[in-house]
Amino acid sequence: MHTICLIPGDGIGLEVVPATRRLLEATGLDLTFLEAEAGWATFQRRGTSVPAETLERVRAADATLAGAFTSPKTKVEGHKGAIRSMRRELDLFANLRPAKTRPLPGSLPGIDMLMVRENTEGLYVEAERRYGDIAIADAMVSRRACERIAHVAMQQARKRRGRVAVVHKANVLPLTSGLFLETALAVAAEYPDVETYDIIVDAAAMKLVRDPESFDVLVSTNLFGDILSDLMAGLVGGLGVAPSANIGVDYAIFEPVHGSAPDIAGRGIANPTATMLTAAMMLQHLGEDDVANRIDRAVDQVLMDGPRTADLGGDATTESFTDAVIAAYHRL
Ligand code: NAI
Ligand code: MG
Repeated sequence: MHTICLIPGDGIGLEVVPATRRLLEATGLDLTFLEAEAGWATFQRRGTSVPAETLERVRAADATLAGAFTSPKTKVEGHKGAIRSMRRELDLFANLRPAKTRPLPGSLPGIDMLMVRENTEGLYVEAERRYGDIAIADAMVSRRACERIAHVAMQQARKRRGRVAVVHKANVLPLTSGLFLETALAVAAEYPDVETYDIIVDAAAMKLVRDPESFDVLVSTNLFGDILSDLMAGLVGGLGVAPSANIGVDYAIFEPVHGSAPDIAGRGIANPTATMLTAAMMLQHLGEDDVANRIDRAVDQVLMDGPRTADLGGDATTESFTDAVIAAYHRL
């Protein structure tokens, strides 16, 4: 039996999470669901984007599946981004973002890579100040955070093809990015079986586009990992199919890479694939490898045969796509 906390959040999170719950229920696994709220709508109603009882439910559950959370582009007094707050509060220091070739027209062949993104520090400590026409943001980098994210990258590489690219900008930021690079390479020395190399972030962006098959695991600081993982998603079919996991020592929150997609929210046309693949990562984390693999294959089957959602050029709704995945799951 597993207890799963569901946090739909904002926008299309309210569509893709219930769709994925339907798929999870169809697997026949013994699952108990706890519902919790967080995000922008929660902030507007309650003055906090992550209420205390939501954190309690995440802590009580074996794993959490989240949808998406809206963040305004302008500063709103007292508001902290929901997912960033939860990552920091629960110390979910590792963000795993796989990008794998999918049977889709827009997906390049031969890609199977994983971004291991540091999830608690860097420029995402939300320490910005404004002095008239000048604004300053602090980036924080600690040896401890670099060490533990580097260990995760090495351990992931051991389960994969044994290669790690350390992505940095130490040439321009020798103190912050330099500490990350130095620490990651020191950790790499403990894993002689893993081939580790470093690459400057701009060169990595170019190489990801021109030679994506050459990458296995990438490890980077928060902002670079965020940006490059969207680029990686773009190589294999886009945000509609990109899953991710936020993992700490005690807790884990699984969420699609995409945001709340206000441009399509409420129309029932969001692609739930990313959330379904995210749920597969969650089940793998819970030791349910067989069901996780079966979900992955069922999704691929429907991506290949159709129906597809609008972001992938089709006319399926969230519901009809979900029905097709559940049917494919039962056929496997
Ligand atoms: P977004 O990921 O929400 O949307 C980007 C584009 O991709 C939009 O055109 C959207 O319609 C499309 N898209 C995304 N997911 C889709 C899906 N499952 N099916 C079909 N189309 C999909 O990013 P955007 O527009 O930059 O941000 C919107 C809001 O989401 C903002 O408030 C932002 O702060 C938030 N956001 C939250 C994230 C999170 O909760 N982890 C991550 C990224 C953005
Ligand atoms: Mg992002």
